[in-house]
Amino acid sequence: MASADSIGRCRPRTEPRLAAGYVGTVRENPYDREPGYAVRYRDRRFRTGSGAATDRRERRALRRLLRRAATAPGPWLDVPCGAGRLTDELPGSKVQVDRDPTMVAAIDAPHPKACASVHALPFADGTFGGALCMRLLQHIPTGDERVAILRELRRVTRGPLLASFFDANSLQHLRRRLRPLFGRRRSGRHAVSRRTFARELAAAGFEVVAMKPLLRFVGEQTLVLALPRMRESPLI
Ligand SMILES: C[S@@+](CC[C@H](N)C(=O)[O-])C[C@H]1O[C@@H](n2cnc3c(N)ncnc32)[C@H](O)[C@@H]1O
Repeated sequence: MASADSIGRCRPRTEPRLAAGYVGTVRENPYDREPGYAVRYRDRRFRTGSGAATDRRERRALRRLLRRAATAPGPWLDVPCGAGRLTDELPGSKVQVDRDPTMVAAIDAPHPKACASVHALPFADGTFGGALCMRLLQHIPTGDERVAILRELRRVTRGPLLASFFDANSLQHLRRRLRPLFGRRRSGRHAVSRRTFARELAAAGFEVVAMKPLLRFVGEQTLVLALPRMRESPLI
């Protein structure tokens, strides 16, 4: 398993670290932020303004889903962990992974951590008892890329996956889509329907147990609890 030492060995974003036996190339999703962003994300993003209420709702939804999630043996993986906001909501031991070295450096919790891409996680198959993938998938533009990420999470996880996505059937998403009509920049966030996301999870080898929107039909943010499918469908 990658250790805290690997922080110092972060590679450039375009050159993700490959797991043993991994063949092929990965197209990295962009996620560029200005200098100082990591510390601001840690200290302000979810502690001030409406962020604090969002943080409370997300934790509540996460705890509810975690109560329904039977964990397999092994630590939990938090990827992308950002500055580690939600890691301590997870049960047992945990490992924190983010691609941005400044985010990893901003974490002030003592868990093992690694700087790596979710497209190519530096862990053996089935290392983790569960995985949290919070606030990443809305940045991923295509279904193929989301499925590739979900497959990588499926590969390293024997237990439940808790993931968030943006629900296209929400007022917030409608407002986002209308932005260009009012002369505002097109949003870089991507939303899909619940059905589409369930299909993407199935294509990656998971089945949905529960979905928990923060504010159904109003807000985009939706959390999903999924479990590895026991028998792979021959149709997928
Ligand atoms: C909005 S933050 C979410 C962090 C944390 N999950 C939370 O909810 O507070 C998104 C994070 O995704 C990370 N990220 C973006 N693309 C990534 C990738 N391909 N692999 C790993 N981390 C990635 C960014 O560095 C950033 O820290």
